[in-house]
Order: sequence, then structure tokens, then C-alpha cells
Amino acid sequence: MTETLILRRPDDWHLHLRDGEMLAGVLPESARHFGRAIVMPNLVPPVVTGRQASAYRERILAALPEGAPFTPLMTLYLTEDTDPEDVTAAYANGFAMAVKLYPAGATTNSASGVRDFDKVRGVLEAMAEIGMPLCVHGEVTDPKVDIFDREAVFIDRVLEPLRRATPGLRVVMEHVTTQEAVAYVRAAESGLGATITTHHLIINRNHILVGGIHPHYYCLPVAKRELHRLALREAATSGDARFFLGTDSAPHADAAKESGCGCAGCFTATNTLSILAHVFEEMGRLDRLEGFTSLHGPAFYGLAPNEDRITLTKGATPVAYPAKIETGVGPVTVFDPGFPLYWRVA
Ligand code: NCD
Ligand code: ZN
Repeated sequence: MTETLILRRPDDWHLHLRDGEMLAGVLPESARHFGRAIVMPNLVPPVVTGRQASAYRERILAALPEGAPFTPLMTLYLTEDTDPEDVTAAYANGFAMAVKLYPAGATTNSASGVRDFDKVRGVLEAMAEIGMPLCVHGEVTDPKVDIFDREAVFIDRVLEPLRRATPGLRVVMEHVTTQEAVAYVRAAESGLGATITTHHLIINRNHILVGGIHPHYYCLPVAKRELHRLALREAATSGDARFFLGTDSAPHADAAKESGCGCAGCFTATNTLSILAHVFEEMGRLDRLEGFTSLHGPAFYGLAPNEDRITLTKGATPVAYPAKIETGVGPVTVFDPGFPLYWRVA
């Protein structure tokens, strides 16, 4: 018997598309299933101004497969020199949907990020006034803080003070990986949402390190202990509208991952929906999948959900996905959940 699930077309509220040949190689993977995506600005150099975001958006649209109904929603990379007027104009013109905060040095291409939060106060206040969301990479970069503790410490040291200092600022805590982050989001009265990735619902830190080092499971924030993975699964499938899908699909060519100093990022664009259907079914909550993939995100961003639908069917034989996507800058390994997937997008 074939089981069928019809969902409003999903959106990806945290996606890395890169540029040039990598963009051309990976964009079809997202455009196949997703209607919209919040596109991260951590290019080299970063996408800082409204003009840069608009030019990057044009490059994405030009790289789209013919007729793909995919809309990139752009973000601006917050630097200590960001001009509040440029940000508010970009939001008003539709060139940017949100601003992305990277603590300087926290992750891939974050060197231009923020060191001194007082320097961005004016931008944050302007954003609070117009309702423009701040997407936050929530990890401290203090070398004294253990990498597995960096998210939890960020909440106390940075996020809570920042939210208190800027009442009304809408914040998305990106790619949450800990039970502390889940609890923090749940306790917030308003204006706080969180994205959860596909891979953090599947892997814990053992997957990265047991039986050899597995570079394709290394991403930032790094996957934590099993109890945190379980907290994320509970949050994602709970129906709580503050949690929504942001895959953080982050392509790096294999040569850059399988190296003496491998890049952080898991590439999940290709098989995310099959994996999520598997997880929600395992949790007995298939009925809540649409909320997580297609409803909660637009609601947070003040947008209507997509009108069109996708159909997922569960077959008796596993879905075949390519192990790698070929791009002009080398192959990119597709995230391997480690078990067969039976749900496919029709
Ligand atoms: C992202 C990337 O490669 O751009 N890497 C990752 O591990 N998630 C950056 C980020 O979102 O932290
Ligand atoms: Zn990311």
C-alpha cells in the first residue's frame, strides 16, 4: 500500500547557495522542492549592502533552472560598519528580508562579523522599529569556551543581553543544537523563533568521531550529545510554531571537507524532505510535518504560506539519491542519514 502525504510547498529558512559554479551546481537541488529560501550572505566578500544583496539575488535568479518556482529571500551580513539606513531601505525595497549576525570568527567566512555589539546598536534599533528579523549564529568565539558549550554560553552572554537591550527586535536563533536553546526559545514571550536543521535531527557527536573522523558530519554549530538531538526532535515535531525548518545546507567541495583542516557544513538540500518525513513518522507526528516545513516559517516572517502543494509518497523500496552532486568546482557529498529512506517527493 502506498501512503501519501500532501504538503504546502516547503520553504528553507536558512540556506547557503554560494556563488558562481557552486551556485549553479547546488541551486537545482533546493529549487526542486522548496518554494523560497532565506539565503545566507557569507560569501567572500560578504553580502553587506542592499545593492550587493540585490546583485546576488539576480545571480541566483539567472542560475535557476528554467521555470523553477523558487524565490530567494536575501539577507545582509551585519558588520560593525553596516549603515542602518541602507538596511531599512533594503527591507523596504524587498532587497533583503533579514540581517544575519555572525560573531566574528564563529564559522565559515565570518571574519567580517561583529566583535563589539555596541557598534551595531543603531542597526538593531532600526530593525526593531521596522520589524526586520535578525538571524543569529548563536555561538561565542571565546577560545576558552569548549566548542560543545559555545551555543549555551552564547545565550547567556550575548543573546539575552542583546534582546533585553533592544526590545521589540525579532530574532531567529539559527540552527539550534542544544536543549538549552530549545528551552530558551520556549520561554521567550514573543519575537523569538528558531530554525532546526535536518542533520541535527539525525546525528549526534558520535557520528562525527566514532570509528574514524567523518568530515561530512562536521558542521557548525557542531552536533552535540544524544540528549540534545532528542530535544531537537521533540521541538521540531511538537507543533510549536516558534520552530521551523532551516536546513543550513552548506555545500563545500569534497576536497575542502576531506582535508587536514576540513570545512564545516552538511549538504542536505537533496534529500531533506525524505529525511524529515522519516523523522516525523518515527515520532508519530507526520501530521505536524507541514507546520515545520511550510507554515511556521512564513508566519514568523510575516509571509503567506506557498499556495501550491508537493506530494510525498512512501514506497516499499528505498529512494535512490545520488551520493554526490557534481559541480563545476568539484563533487559535493550529499548528507547520508545512515539508514534507507522510503518517503519520496513525487
Ligand atoms: C556554514 C557554511 O559553510 O557556510 N557552515 C556550517 O557548518 N553550517 C556556515 C554556518 O552556517 O555556520
Ligand atoms: Zn548556515
